[in-house]
Amino acid sequence: MTTNAALTTENLAVTYVGDREVDALKGVSLEFPMNQLTAIIGPSGCGKSTLLKSLNRLHEIQPHAEVSGDVHLGEQSVYNTDDPVPEIRKQIGYVPQTPTALPLSIYENVAYGVKIHGEYDSKEELDDLVETYLRKVNLWEEVKDRLDTPGAELSTGQIQRLCLARSLAVEPDVLLCDEVTSALDPISAESVEETLESLKEEYTIIMVTHSMDQAKRLADEVVFLYLGELVEANDTRSFFENPQHERTREFVKGHTAVEYTESGGVSTTESATADR
Ligand SMILES: Nc1ncnc2c1ncn2[C@@H]1O[C@H](COP(=O)(O)OP(=O)(O)OP(=O)(O)O)[C@@H](O)[C@H]1O
Ligand SMILES: [Mg+2]
Repeated sequence: MTTNAALTTENLAVTYVGDREVDALKGVSLEFPMNQLTAIIGPSGCGKSTLLKSLNRLHEIQPHAEVSGDVHLGEQSVYNTDDPVPEIRKQIGYVPQTPTALPLSIYENVAYGVKIHGEYDSKEELDDLVETYLRKVNLWEEVKDRLDTPGAELSTGQIQRLCLARSLAVEPDVLLCDEVTSALDPISAESVEETLESLKEEYTIIMVTHSMDQAKRLADEVVFLYLGELVEANDTRSFFENPQHERTREFVKGHTAVEYTESGGVSTTESATADR
């Protein structure tokens, strides 16, 4: 992977110590490059969500999770720090699989975190922020005339983009997305994908996906986990064209062969929505 890392993990391990002990993540060391989109893939139960949540200590809200190793955001340690956890989660935002609007207006949904952190000086500044982030997620034109109506009245795809706007409004360095299109119908999924595509130049995005095609379409880098272990991490083209490990070859086998065009673009033989 490239050296310009926004986030690095060092021997990060997570064990759930409930009724039965599960080593969900077994010492993973990774670099997530800045202003790129990294897709985390792997079979169900291999630790993708555990890895994602441990990047901003979100697993701490689940009982019985024990962590060792560390995560660094730039130079700053995520685990060995006196910074309050909400401050870390502001810098490393999280967007869940199932989008949920807060029981507030569209406007207040976007303004929510900004108000909590008190990071605005005037109503005009807040208005500008709300517009800026609704534009960033390609939602402004659809909602600008009804900002005072409840966010929950939007379509699921619009709510997912609203959640993205809410996360972005507090200006995180990194955005964690856990299967953010899997609960959506194909058209909504496509609009959220387009939004991620437009955001990835400006943000470091780490995205868990079950869709190989989505990883091919969106990701700059791909990380493959298997039974809590890192098998392979590489740029998307090398990952799919020239997997280094037998297990990676097995995992991607059966999915449509990806064809890279002369210009470096990508074309697949499956339709864009086939595996959403
Ligand atoms: N809160 C928890 N308590 C106990 N075990 C857990 C907990 N959360 C996850 N696990 C276990 O840890 C392992 C990894 O789970 P995780 O949710 O990270 O997998 P995943 O790759 O995201 O799977 P999926 O693709 O199905 O979402 C699994 O064996 C799971 O059963
Ligand atoms: Mg998961």
